Amino acid sequence: MSSFLGALFVVLVFVVPSISSAPPVTSLTKDYYQKTCPDFGKIVRETVSTKQVAQPTTAAGTLRLFFHDCFLEGCDGSVLIATNSFNKAEKDDDLNESLPGDAFDIVTRVKTALELACPGVVSCADILAQSTRDLVTMIGGPFYEVKLGRKDGFESKAHKVRGNIPLPNHTVQDMMSIFTKNGFTVREMVALSGGHTVGFSHCKEFADRIFGPKPDPELDAHFSGVLKGLCKDYKVNKTMAAFLDPITPGKFDNMYFKNLKRGLGLLASDHILFKDKSTRPFVDLYAENQTVFFEDFARAMEKLGTVGVKGDKDGEVRRRCDHFNKLNV
Ligand code: HEM
Ligand SMILES: *[C@@H]1O[C@H](CO)[C@@H](O)[C@H](O)[C@H]1NC(C)=O
Ligand SMILES: *[C@@H]1O[C@H](CO)[C@@H](O)[C@H](O)[C@H]1NC(C)=O
Ligand SMILES: *[C@@H]1O[C@H](CO)[C@@H](O)[C@H](O)[C@H]1NC(C)=O
Ligand SMILES: *[C@@H]1O[C@H](CO)[C@@H](O)[C@H](O)[C@H]1NC(C)=O
Repeated sequence: MSSFLGALFVVLVFVVPSISSAPPVTSLTKDYYQKTCPDFGKIVRETVSTKQVAQPTTAAGTLRLFFHDCFLEGCDGSVLIATNSFNKAEKDDDLNESLPGDAFDIVTRVKTALELACPGVVSCADILAQSTRDLVTMIGGPFYEVKLGRKDGFESKAHKVRGNIPLPNHTVQDMMSIFTKNGFTVREMVALSGGHTVGFSHCKEFADRIFGPKPDPELDAHFSGVLKGLCKDYKVNKTMAAFLDPITPGKFDNMYFKNLKRGLGLLASDHILFKDKSTRPFVDLYAENQTVFFEDFARAMEKLGTVGVKGDKDGEVRRRCDHFNKLNV
């Protein structure tokens, strides 16, 4: 009997890895740049804090850019690539929903500072991951460890955006299928959505909830009135926007979840997290206890930073974050 179990054990040990379809994981480490760029942490921290003080919308924009980078081809800087005449890049897909310029700017600034200190060493993907963590912490969010060693990818295609980035008109199932594809649970999806505790959205993303044809009766009436004012010319003036968290818009806290319970969720995709019975328990939990939200958000961000990372075989350290080192046609 025990030798049968022993044999079974041997079989399982040898068979399981070969039938597993998981791609090889590039291992990231905390002190990846310790020898090659010892001031990496300090340079990132100082550069992003200067920018954040001058331009307080930077943090939210960068958090969103990082999320999009990781959900498109993995966290490999693909979202940073500029379109050229041979390739329409991710950032220029119609669904880019105006990714904020300040976030691209922060990556450029950090890259410039790092290229002076340690040329050709730090990837753009790592810059975006580390800058995001520093900025989230600066605006009151939890600190978490960022492991490093990501390489920059070789592909950025606009047509791959659709279906890989969640949209405000998605159902919870639509969103869940995108998060599941990237290895996240329902609870982690709700925690990450807490990123909407900072930043803003352009009016077209929620206009149908206030102007109709069928205005959403579950949106708080006073809030809806304020939004109508903020968005009155949104069809002509594309810059019109509103805060995702109208109560504490610049602060990273659990107010987003408290808002959802009071009809103050801005996007339809925010509001349904409270409506749907699969996600509501987590909305309730995070609204009641900010500590749990911060713990879950921090763990989920660490995990987000490992999605589809590239190594030396399928990546490089770009010289400029918006261009591949070689023109690939
Ligand atoms: C769950 C599904 C999600 C949907 C449907 C969604 C959708 C959106 C939309 C439509 C905007 C407004 C964009 C604009 O008009 O400029 C936005 C902004 C934002 N999103 Fe999400 N998002 C989702 C998840 C996330 C996640 C997981 C994060 C990060 C962890 C995130 C972080 C942000 C941030 C910080 C902003 C504000 C950006 C700024 O102020 O520039 N979102 N999101
Ligand atoms: C988003 O795409 C549009 C259309 O291609 C482009 O004009 C715009 O510059 C893009 N936004 C960013 C931030 O790249
Ligand atoms: C959701 O919005 C996108 C982009 O605005 C649009 O292309 C798509 O048709 C919409 N889907 C539904 C089901 O309304
Ligand atoms: C467009 O809206 C923004 C934000 O509400 C405002 O600051 C700006 O002056 C408006 N531009 C025009 C041309 O009306
Ligand atoms: C909130 O969650 C934390 C961490 O899980 C826990 O230690 C604490 O007791 C909770 N606080 C309340 C008031 O439930």
